[in-house]
Amino acid sequence: MKTRRTFNSFVALGAMTAAVLSAAAPAAHAQNTGKVKVGLMLPATGTFAALGTAIENGFRLHVAERGGKLAGREIEFVRVDDESDPAKATDNVNKLVKRDNVDVLIGTVHSGVAMAMARVAKETGTLLIVPNAGADAVTGPMCAPNIFRSSFSNWQPGYAMGEVMAKKGYKRVVTITWRYAAGDESVKGFKEAFEKGGGTVVKDLGLPFPNVEFQALLTEIAATKPDAVYTFFAGGGAVKFVKDYAAAGLRRSIPLYGAGFLTDGTLLAQGADAEGLFTTLHYADSLNTPRDNAFRLAYAKAYKLQPDVYAVQGYDAAQMLAVGMEAVKGDLTKKAEFAAALQKARIDSPRGPFSLSKSHNPVQDIYLRQVSGKENKVVGIATKGLADPGRGCRM
Ligand code: BEZ
Repeated sequence: MKTRRTFNSFVALGAMTAAVLSAAAPAAHAQNTGKVKVGLMLPATGTFAALGTAIENGFRLHVAERGGKLAGREIEFVRVDDESDPAKATDNVNKLVKRDNVDVLIGTVHSGVAMAMARVAKETGTLLIVPNAGADAVTGPMCAPNIFRSSFSNWQPGYAMGEVMAKKGYKRVVTITWRYAAGDESVKGFKEAFEKGGGTVVKDLGLPFPNVEFQALLTEIAATKPDAVYTFFAGGGAVKFVKDYAAAGLRRSIPLYGAGFLTDGTLLAQGADAEGLFTTLHYADSLNTPRDNAFRLAYAKAYKLQPDVYAVQGYDAAQMLAVGMEAVKGDLTKKAEFAAALQKARIDSPRGPFSLSKSHNPVQDIYLRQVSGKENKVVGIATKGLADPGRGCRM
């Protein structure tokens, strides 16, 4: 609470006070020329483990491209495996903030864990960049001057697919997902646009995260006979869902659509069962822009792997940190200036350039992609420059 007051009053300082503060800058700056401690709170185990690795790879790649330093300061990493477990999240983030005294928090994948991180970041004034978790609340009611996202809100890809499927003329759709913030909000975004476009969600199916016993729900889909299905699953769960959907014989009778996490970073494991699937996301494998080609080449060289959306989001979290740190010449105590720099920045992302909304969420194109072989190929732009509404954000 004490730190938060300090941060808020810092934001409120007028130009005169700022000038006084910069007169004191040499002493403060001296403390800010050493290493920057970056707390990476990501899953290293569980259904989202591969997503955590890709984010960390992307982040480290950008730091390496800058010679291991941002704004002249070396980067030191402190890592915590959050296991995508919301019950352990507050303890885990407190370890980084209170025990390890990190300067910046980077995390995480799971929306429930990210909300705990945002709570602690807000209370302590610690800088937080979210490199995946789409929890709408993080850039909604929980928004704060020190909280940023390099990824998406759960609403964004869902909303874009709602528009696509309504335009395709589907009328009766069943949704199926994990019952937690990401699944619920993805479906909500989908429903908002789909129903605006004249469709109806006839059944909302769900199971607890991270369960993968889909059989009873697939039987229910077959019995309901909708025009199509919309889904949110990711990581290991997405692999199993796509395989089970095909094995149940549903691919032939009921078209399957999803937020792009359904087929991102998963295609090698899904094989032919994913072929032809349409999804919406803020990245695709075949953008073929000079920026994305350079990124993909560098990533493949460094890790002997193809990048995915998670790698891009990690890379862009490091780009955002670099933009903010350059603006304050490495002095991370200058939080208001850091935030102002990011607010007006255009991030040169492999996905295509993006800016941040007032609530600090990317305003970005959402692509319509189709699986072809081992790639999510771009079919077109589903929704151009889509901004999350940032409902409930007061900043
Ligand atoms: C989430 O929990 O927000 C999430 C997890 C994996 C992929 C996308 C979103």
